[in-house]
Amino acid sequence: RIPVFTTIEDYRLWRDKAFEDKKSVGFVPTMGALHDGHLFLVKRSLAENELTVVSVFVNPAQFAPHEDLATYPRTLPHDLSLLSNPRIPAHRQDVAQQKGTFVEVKGYGEQMEGRSRPAFFRGVATVVTKLFNIIQPTNAYFGQKDIQQALLLRRLVGDLHLPHPTPNRLHIIPTARDPIDGLALSSRNAYLTPTERQRAPIFYAALQEVSRAWATGASKREAVRRALEQLEVAKDEGEKHGVEIRVDYVEMNDSDTFEEVGDEQVQRPDGAPVILSGAVWFGRTRLIDNIILGNT
Ligand code: PAJ
Repeated sequence: RIPVFTTIEDYRLWRDKAFEDKKSVGFVPTMGALHDGHLFLVKRSLAENELTVVSVFVNPAQFAPHEDLATYPRTLPHDLSLLSNPRIPAHRQDVAQQKGTFVEVKGYGEQMEGRSRPAFFRGVATVVTKLFNIIQPTNAYFGQKDIQQALLLRRLVGDLHLPHPTPNRLHIIPTARDPIDGLALSSRNAYLTPTERQRAPIFYAALQEVSRAWATGASKREAVRRALEQLEVAKDEGEKHGVEIRVDYVEMNDSDTFEEVGDEQVQRPDGAPVILSGAVWFGRTRLIDNIILGNT
């Protein structure tokens, strides 16, 4: 049976013992509704640490009032059964208590996802700071699926000199995808109707199209235009089948500053990677995905 901590105090006793025993603790923060993408992170953590902690908390602070907090899938018993490896203690306590302290990574939470979801990164940065303070992980694991989140948190950890984890111990793990059609695994995929699910892989295909065009010398604008064109065709196709497809954004951003790269900027001079990312609505479900271009 998996140990489940229901209070921070109980967890801290367990963590103190691990410190004493000099055991490394890997940490995978989640909002539950676990899927293979999450389990991919858990496996990495199990391979690289003596102990692994998974947190499950649907964080209200990162949902805007019109978003899906109420309907976000909550499947704790199933989540626990997926984590049935007895070396995984799951930690669960309501960490929503908030008396006015927030963590904000100024200048890095306003672009890309932050533009569409203004309070999102403040909510994420605050809860993850709290979780790091509670869990005190040696290593922490985040998915490339949410690349801006992971890079922003790595910056936060450095800026605040957090000891657990240090920035080089915040690991970013490649996106787990459907093996057949490449759709990025996500808890929100559960919202898709069968016809929407069928159409959703067009999003990743369009990102791949940008990546290919860009790699073969097309300008940024041209590459993105081709992807939007593909999505436009998909939108018309979708309409025939009663699926509404709407592009929120597709753009390329510097992985350091998150600023949008200019059209002339085919490759950063230092070869640092550029993030190609986007968000697309399929019906009432908003999906995000990204590809890292250049050196990774
Ligand atoms: P959640 O969406 O549950 O995701 C938890 C972790 O799993 C994140 O690091 C996310 O990037 C990773 N993940 C999700 N889908 C993935 C996939 N297909 N491949 C690889 N990794 C994937 O992200 C959050 O929760 C929250 O914002 C959180 C960090 C827990 C703060 O509340």
